[in-house]
Amino acid sequence: MTPPVLRTLPDLRAATAPWRARAESIGVVPTMGALHDGHLSLVEAARAACDRVIVTIFVNPRQFNDPADLDDYPRTEAADAAKLARFGIDLLYVPDAEQIYPPRFATSVTVAGLTDVLCGAHRPGHFDGVATVVAKLFLQTGATDAFFGEKDFQQLQVVRRMAVDLDIPVAVHGCPTIREIDGLAMSSRNLLLSDRARTRAPRLHAEMEEIARGLAQGRAFDALRREAVARLEAAGFTRVDYLEIRANDDLGLLDAPTRPARLFAAAWLAGVRLIDNIPL
Ligand code: PAF
Repeated sequence: MTPPVLRTLPDLRAATAPWRARAESIGVVPTMGALHDGHLSLVEAARAACDRVIVTIFVNPRQFNDPADLDDYPRTEAADAAKLARFGIDLLYVPDAEQIYPPRFATSVTVAGLTDVLCGAHRPGHFDGVATVVAKLFLQTGATDAFFGEKDFQQLQVVRRMAVDLDIPVAVHGCPTIREIDGLAMSSRNLLLSDRARTRAPRLHAEMEEIARGLAQGRAFDALRREAVARLEAAGFTRVDYLEIRANDDLGLLDAPTRPARLFAAAWLAGVRLIDNIPL
C-alpha cells in the first residue's frame, strides 16, 4: 500500500503527536524526490532502526543556485509513493512551499567552515539552503533519527554540525553510497543524462578508483590527479570542479590520506554536474 501523504504542518504535527507522547523513535529520510535505490536504502535503514518512519519530499528552491537547475529537477511524486509502498513507512510528508517558507520567512542557517570548500565553493548559498530546510524538517517532524547518504558526504557533515550546534536532539546516520552496476553513484540527477552521456558517466568513479590504487602504491596525488583529469576530458567531461583528498571530519585539504580521508570529485558531463566520493 502506498503511504499516507500529508502536505501541511498542522496535519504532520497531529499525526506525530501520539508517537511523541509514547516516546517512540521517529526516523526521517529527507529527500527531494525522484527516488532511486540509494534513497530506498536509507528508508530500509530507518525502518530497521526506528519505531516510526517519515520520508519527506520537498524540492527546496533555496538550495538551487541556478534557476534552470531548479526547473529541470525531476518531480515524480506518484512514482515515488509507489516505490515506497513495500517499506511500510508511516508517512510521506510532501509540504508545499508555504509550509517551509511561510510569508515573511527571514531566517537562514549558515554552517561556517565546512561549507567553504568542495560544493560550497562552487555553489554559493547551496549549503545555507540545505541547512535551513533540514533544520526545519527535523523540527517539524520531531525526528529522533535522520538518514543521509554518504554520496553527499559534505552535506552529511554539514547537517551533523548544524544539529549539534543548534541542540536539535536528532541522531544523524550516514549510509553507504549505492552504485549502479557500472559504478556510477546513484543520484536523481542521473535521470538528466542523455543515453550517450550515461554510458560515459561511470568514468568518473573509475578514475577515482584508479587514483585510490595509485595512492595505495605510493604514487604522488598531484600526478595521479593530472592524469585522471586528462582522461576525463578525453572522455567528454567538460569541466572538473574539484578532485581532492579531504579529511573526513573537518574536510581539510590533504595531499595524501594521512588521516581518515576521502577522495571527492565534481565534474560536468553534457550539462549535468556529477559528484562522488570514495573512502581512501
Ligand atoms: O540530499 C537531498 O536530497 C537534499 O539536499 C535534502 C537533504 C533533502 C535537503 O533538501
